[in-house]
Amino acid sequence: MSFQKELNNKGTMKEEPVNLYQLLYKSYATRPLSVEEFADLLVDARVKNDSLGVTGILLYKNGVFIQLMEGEKRNIDTLYDVIKQDPRHTQLECLYYQPANERACKNWAMKIHNLDFGVPDNLLGVEQLISQLHQQHLSDGQSPAEQLITLFKQVS
Ligand SMILES: Cc1cc2nc3c(=O)[nH]c(=O)nc-3n(C[C@H](O)[C@H](O)[C@H](O)COP(=O)(O)O)c2cc1C
Repeated sequence: MSFQKELNNKGTMKEEPVNLYQLLYKSYATRPLSVEEFADLLVDARVKNDSLGVTGILLYKNGVFIQLMEGEKRNIDTLYDVIKQDPRHTQLECLYYQPANERACKNWAMKIHNLDFGVPDNLLGVEQLISQLHQQHLSDGQSPAEQLITLFKQVS
């Protein structure tokens, strides 16, 4: 595996895969998840993502999941293949899958926000972006998916 080196925010060297990819998908929950089920999902995802060097964020709103995953391409591909089989959601639609120079969510092996309980101040505007996800490009040239990733980067 090849790496490039970069300084992390603690000033120490951190290794990043050269083949860094970001994948953002949308899916629909097959049933409502309880608070405990969300907590279990978060714990399991963090452990596994951490071991794979995968970071990201998972949003839930009105039965819809939006997840950003970022890491080495083959790990993202493997993880997405696993997640696709998960019976807790369906109709997965990949909305963004591109190489990246740096991570948006450097510090989160996986962060979950259930927006049904309210939108955190630092994610204001996220619901509008989610509703626009199927548009190709907004007026400033970025797609809604790219704008979402930019927003995640600002708050992570
Ligand atoms: C919406 C959604 C997002 C998920 N995200 C992750 C994730 O980021 N990382 C992860 O390891 N599992 C995630 N999972 C759980 C996986 O689908 C799977 O259950 C888990 O990785 C355990 O798989 P395994 O038993 O094959 O190791 C997610 C599940 C759902 C429904």
